[in-house]
Amino acid sequence: MDILSVIEHKKKKMALTKEEIRFFVQGAAEGTLPDYQLAALLMAIRLNGMDMQETACLTDCMARSGAMLQPDVGGIPLDKHSTGGVGDTTTLVLAPLVAACGGKVLKMSGRGLGHTGGTVDKLESIPGMQVELDEETFVNIVRQVGCCVVGQSKNLAPADKRLYALRDVTGTVDSVPLIASSILSKKFASGAKAIVLDVKVGSGALMPTLQDAVHLAQTMVQIGKILSRPVSCVISGMEEPLGSHVGNALEVKEAVEILQGKVQGPLKDVALFLGSRMLINAGLCENEQEANDKLTAAIENGAGLAKLKEMIKAQGGLPDVCDDVSLLPTAPCIRPVLAKESGWLAATDGVALGMAAQKMGAGRMTKDDIIDPAVGFIMKKRIGDRVEKGDEIAILHASGAASADEAEKNILSALTFSPSAPSPARLIYALVDEKGIQEIHL
Ligand code: URA
Ligand code: CA
Repeated sequence: MDILSVIEHKKKKMALTKEEIRFFVQGAAEGTLPDYQLAALLMAIRLNGMDMQETACLTDCMARSGAMLQPDVGGIPLDKHSTGGVGDTTTLVLAPLVAACGGKVLKMSGRGLGHTGGTVDKLESIPGMQVELDEETFVNIVRQVGCCVVGQSKNLAPADKRLYALRDVTGTVDSVPLIASSILSKKFASGAKAIVLDVKVGSGALMPTLQDAVHLAQTMVQIGKILSRPVSCVISGMEEPLGSHVGNALEVKEAVEILQGKVQGPLKDVALFLGSRMLINAGLCENEQEANDKLTAAIENGAGLAKLKEMIKAQGGLPDVCDDVSLLPTAPCIRPVLAKESGWLAATDGVALGMAAQKMGAGRMTKDDIIDPAVGFIMKKRIGDRVEKGDEIAILHASGAASADEAEKNILSALTFSPSAPSPARLIYALVDEKGIQEIHL
């Protein structure tokens, strides 16, 4: 086998054989193939595509390119993944709730990327919390507590790590077979047996149009089917932050307040929807209604909050933050952003809001930046709300006055007002699983 003929075949739009795929994936993981040949092949795949069998084979080979965890967690290992949202703390809400309902949530999460937040960064705002755990500790916590959230292990799917870094700098990220195999290879390597994926759609999302998002979702569901690991995809919008809080400690606070039963709204609704799919996929519930009732009960009787405390304690963090959110880091400069005009909030630029928080220090501008866990903002208005001049639109939590001034400008310019009432933004568009596409209105 030689890499030139593999490149040649894909250039001529041929389907690659299993042997050819295994060959280049191994070459990527082991470092025996140079960047320029892998990059040429990635571009050929980006331009000429891959069929379902090739895509499933690529996923399987990348998953097997490093360690394959086969964790004994005392149940079906469940995982949930989002393609990247703003103010999207669903993991911190649903992992403890699903655990409280008997699920085993084994979650490797990312750090923040660009304008999107990362669960691992959020968890690190809890004093003492450890997110880099060895595999044995990780699996033990999942077995004992029912959920554990850590950073991505370096031993898993090394081929994806190399190929993803190349894609990032060669204009080959936006390829459905490459995205689908990249996401799922890491999930399969971590041992997840039932997976719920939240595919974001909209400007600033990996998939800009609903059609693209459905295509990615269908591809991932098919890969799961071929490789015998059930995958369900929820397609959700990202026109505005999902929760009202944007920023690391602020998002932990919002998740805790949802688990305390104090906060309602879209973040809770989407977390319950995704959590229901996890319970159904794990065979722990028969249907949506039963799953939703169980998860809601776990908020009402405090079982979900108790699980979050247990998880934080097991990971070395201060569980008391679940009873007293003021123990989380707080910013020195807290002040409101007031509306400069009256009208209806018709649109928000979710990406611009994510970037506003990133610039405040909630995210990294370069790979080596250190995050300020305390900063960010709380949105007081959502799309569809009436706003009067002088109303509080947001509350800034900034490191100082200059940062607050800049954030205020960025937030105000991310908002569009209209003289008439617009329809509220869609939260969830569709559910895609082995049964097909089901339109969802949420
Ligand atoms: N996230 C991934 O892990 N891989 C991709 O290719 C895109 C998003
Ligand atoms: Ca404090």
